[in-house]
Amino acid sequence: MSGLFVTFEGPEGAGKSTNLQYLAEALRAAGADPLLTREPGGTPIAEQIRGLLLANHDEQMDDDAELLLMFAARAQHLNQVIRPALAAGRIVISDRFTDATYAYQGGGRGIDPERIAVLESWVQGKLRPDLTLLFDVPVDVGLARAKARSALDRFEQEERAFFDAVRNTYLSRAAQAPERYRVIDGSGALADVQAALQPAVHWILGQWRA
Ligand SMILES: Nc1ncnc2c1ncn2[C@@H]1O[C@H](COP(=O)(O)OP(=O)(O)OP(=O)(O)O)[C@@H](O)[C@H]1O
Ligand SMILES: [Mg+2]
Repeated sequence: MSGLFVTFEGPEGAGKSTNLQYLAEALRAAGADPLLTREPGGTPIAEQIRGLLLANHDEQMDDDAELLLMFAARAQHLNQVIRPALAAGRIVISDRFTDATYAYQGGGRGIDPERIAVLESWVQGKLRPDLTLLFDVPVDVGLARAKARSALDRFEQEERAFFDAVRNTYLSRAAQAPERYRVIDGSGALADVQAALQPAVHWILGQWRA
């Protein structure tokens, strides 16, 4: 038995967490029991690493330290939570995964994507998401929503060029592998975003029933 691995990606305020709950409800209504999780985090140890990554520190965090902490958390999450759930045949939905590392540490921080690919292979082997929903919003829209919601974390305090690079990296990765990604316009009203999610809901249920 092998389940289905779905990831939600996009910049801050794009609507990932809101629509992840919506998708989970739609799947439950159809009789599925999805496992909902997030990165960085998803286990007690990985959530502690998340705390370290998102907190504001007096000391500057080194870019490589940031990248390695992301993959340390991912190794823990994959082996404790994601792989066992997939092995049990479940649908796993993660709020962010490795595309976020390419977007933030690659695009945003400027780390060579080939170095990220080395860690991706090391930690994940051949495991990749079956489907990635990329929520795309203009940078200003996403940041305004994130600011209205809560105090800004370490990433949310970056400058404009950082977020432009994050968005562009996400979009170019989606364009390079269109069979894996669905790009969802997250800038409209929630009802419109959820309507745009319907084909993905049907695709996931079709795979799950097969
Ligand atoms: N389509 C929408 N229209 C208006 N507001 C929205 C929409 N989608 C989400 N929001 C609101 O914007 C805020 C950010 O949404 P959400 O937390 O889902 O984004 P996110 O992508 O998970 O962000 P982050 O990366 O910061 O976790 C929330 O307060 C949410 O209620
Ligand atoms: Mg969120």
